[in-house]
Amino acid sequence: MNILTISTTPFDDQKPGTSGLRKKVTVFRQPHYLENFVQALFNSLDGYEGATLVVGGDGRYYNRTAIQTILKMAAANGFGRVLLGRDGLLSTPAASALIRQHQAFGGIILSASHNPAGPDGDFGIKFNTGNGGPAPENVTEAIYAHSREIRDYRLLKAPDLGLGGAGETQLGAMAVEIVDSVVAYAELMEQLFDFDAIKALFKSGLFSMCFDAMHAITGPYAREILEHRLGAPVRTVINAEPLEDFGGGHPDPNLVHAHELVSLMEDRNAPDFGAASDGDGDRNMILGRRFFVTPSDSLAVMAANAHLLPGYRLGLAGVARSMPTSMAVDRVAEALGIECYETPTGWKFFGNLLDAGKITLCGEESFGTGSDHVREKDGLWAVLFWLNLLAVRKQPVERIVREHWVRYGRNYYSRHDYEGVDAAPAQELMERLRGGFDALQGRQFGSLQVKFCDDFSYTDPVDGSVSSRQGIRIVFQDGSRIVFRLSGTGTVGATLRVYLECYEPDRRRHDLDTQEALATLIGIAEDVAQIRKHTGRSAPSVIT
Ligand code: G1P
Ligand code: ZN
Repeated sequence: MNILTISTTPFDDQKPGTSGLRKKVTVFRQPHYLENFVQALFNSLDGYEGATLVVGGDGRYYNRTAIQTILKMAAANGFGRVLLGRDGLLSTPAASALIRQHQAFGGIILSASHNPAGPDGDFGIKFNTGNGGPAPENVTEAIYAHSREIRDYRLLKAPDLGLGGAGETQLGAMAVEIVDSVVAYAELMEQLFDFDAIKALFKSGLFSMCFDAMHAITGPYAREILEHRLGAPVRTVINAEPLEDFGGGHPDPNLVHAHELVSLMEDRNAPDFGAASDGDGDRNMILGRRFFVTPSDSLAVMAANAHLLPGYRLGLAGVARSMPTSMAVDRVAEALGIECYETPTGWKFFGNLLDAGKITLCGEESFGTGSDHVREKDGLWAVLFWLNLLAVRKQPVERIVREHWVRYGRNYYSRHDYEGVDAAPAQELMERLRGGFDALQGRQFGSLQVKFCDDFSYTDPVDGSVSSRQGIRIVFQDGSRIVFRLSGTGTVGATLRVYLECYEPDRRRHDLDTQEALATLIGIAEDVAQIRKHTGRSAPSVIT
């Protein structure tokens, strides 16, 4: 066998962020850059000799090139088998499912999620462990440490492999098996949801839906499940063909970027149900006719109704949400008498809770929801959950959410993003806030009084690990909150995220415009953080 050991020197910027290493394609294309990171990853792991590795990505530009390199490096480093998504494609949740189904050692997922793609766009790589979930912080720290001292990497000298087709080929001593993940994923969904009830809903002729795959990875999965297995009319799935540049779009399912779907759902003759997923298939957006369901509300509604669906009929062990996610689900957990955990931002923190059986459902305000069926958030799963719910409750989306608010109260919620601002002043804004905690405690802003402020720190209840500096919280006596964080997934400058939330129990006040309901908090955020001064921006670039 022809294994090359190639000398290299470290790069100092290979620290994984919220969700793996994300950089511009131009950065990944530097000689040795990808190889260094992959070897640092392998160097940080033990016991993979002869083991199985799952490999695939969201199909963005550079996916195929990177896969060839990773296959040759996996072979040279002694993996026994790679399960490769056909054409190098795997949605993030499907990759998680594959790792679990095959009890693989772990998986390498190539994606920069919803970030735009193409030669000038973004690329990313992350490692998932044998439970199917994103590597925890001790693993990502170890990868980073190895990336700082790497001297060489191992590569099998072999021609490129064909990524299409099916079945098994050899790469040196390693087997490469090309798998069709769409079928396996669809079968997993059939176990969780009542496909007959959903089929009947489509067949009734009284219900219509539009799913926007945004030219990203979920197109083939959504077509197979919605149109082929559930009988939704052809063209229920739009923008279904995955493209290397996502059709030039920004495949982030929110009110700003999923504009085609959003304008369709605002039409007089809009479908009853609208949904979208992101670049790698783990995010979701849920819309009713002229009605947007915030991700935080979606999680709460799911938790309150889960027992109506086959996969969750025995009830929920517990729920979890990331700290900046609204507290709507907390109220449901309280009513159900189950635990609600509050974790830092990023899916990796849910893994231990899911593995330990402490939670069944979890979610983030950033359009991510999931359950114990995999260890990633799962866009199509969330859409099917809602579809099943609509089939059982036989009510429109809006009605279900409004009834939820009447029972639990409404958490008005919004996130303001200041994208791509200069990193130094953004850091300074955060530091000044930290430095101002003492003066803020107990301070009165009109009718609102600060109850406490801190930099969120999380102690994992399963392994006791501590993650600190996870976001600045200003919490008021009435439960309203402002949270400040810097993004850990961006590739240019810094992105400041400001999360705003207030609670309204009175049903007569459930029809306010969200930004108006939050206007006082928005003013306080500017007052305490001096956002305009530090970012040079007079308004957020994205409001969700
Ligand atoms: C963002 C979201 C976070 C999500 C992550 C990966 O991270 O805020 O909830 O888990 O993308 O999809 P951020 O850029 O805020 O670090
Ligand atoms: Zn994603």
